[in-house]
Amino acid sequence: MNLHGIYYSEPVYRPPSEANSLLIQVTEGCTYHCSFCFANMKKFKIRDLDDIKKDMDTARKVYGTDIRKMFFLDGNAMVIPYNKLLELTSYAQLLFPKLNRIGTYAHAKDILAKSDVELRSLKEAGLGIVYIGIESGNNQQLAKAGKRVTADEIVAAFHKCFQSGITPSGTIILGLTGNDDKLAEQHILDTADLVNRASPVHVIKEGSLPVWYISCLALMFPDGSDVARDSAAGKFIPQTSIGILREMKLFIENISDDVKNCVFRSNHASNYLPLKGRLSRDRDKIVSIIDQGLKHPENVRPEFMRGL
Ligand SMILES: C[S@@+](CC[C@H](N)C(=O)[O-])C[C@H]1O[C@@H](n2cnc3c(N)ncnc32)[C@H](O)[C@@H]1O
Ligand code: SF4
Repeated sequence: MNLHGIYYSEPVYRPPSEANSLLIQVTEGCTYHCSFCFANMKKFKIRDLDDIKKDMDTARKVYGTDIRKMFFLDGNAMVIPYNKLLELTSYAQLLFPKLNRIGTYAHAKDILAKSDVELRSLKEAGLGIVYIGIESGNNQQLAKAGKRVTADEIVAAFHKCFQSGITPSGTIILGLTGNDDKLAEQHILDTADLVNRASPVHVIKEGSLPVWYISCLALMFPDGSDVARDSAAGKFIPQTSIGILREMKLFIENISDDVKNCVFRSNHASNYLPLKGRLSRDRDKIVSIIDQGLKHPENVRPEFMRGL
């Protein structure tokens, strides 16, 4: 698809917080094959750098030089080698001098594959935020979902971001274990533990702590994904909407006081109950809103209104 002469490979997906950003297609598809994800159904490629730069040139002509936020598509643009990523971020800064930040989705392994020096220079060249899929803090669930990463590696990726000045924003998938209560409890307790360990308090010892983000999403079943196939075959029984709320409550309850300056959101369209707050500061407030949702499930977002 071309929009005002800028190339996009459909379907286009970006985090809700990048709704007002200039979207630039730098990769297509993904090198990983996570069982739940819709992003890996296209054949993977890194687009030709000249073509990407041409799209940025066109965007400058169409939208002017006032662009403040840019987002690099697709599902895992952090896989691009450092030199190329630096060339693209630097070019974007050159064309759009008022650019505050560039964002991208980033698998934890592709953050770890870059050195501290490289990450710092990407930050200086404008890479301001990376959206990391945590999904679960439980290593068995991560392996089952085909994430090819461990909880410790995800924690390390968060710490590396804090140390380089890049803001990490992590997503957690509620309902990942289906309606098995025991597995769900372990998934959530391990996920809260991962977030507690990821906190910047463990690596930033001087000066003010950076802001970071954690969001909860509820598992969806995109056409063509492994989870959709397993669910259709009856091999995976989805978590109930009440079960999802219980998972969210357990998660929030287990966030420790070590978690500071963390903006929490569950306002993604996949969620049953939109929530916002700061972790760990607003723990009790968030839990009491979830309790209201559990008491009055009729007010929870109906199934047909959920989406990715
Ligand atoms: C496009 S992916 C990019 C993440 C990044 N590539 C990584 O692996 O860290 C963005 C996030 O959307 C969420 N997501 C993807 N498929 C989903 C589904 N079927 N249901 C709920 N959330 C999903 C996951 O949290 C995933 O990390
Ligand atoms: S979750 Fe991330 S790494 Fe996994 S398939 Fe989706 S985009 Fe790729």
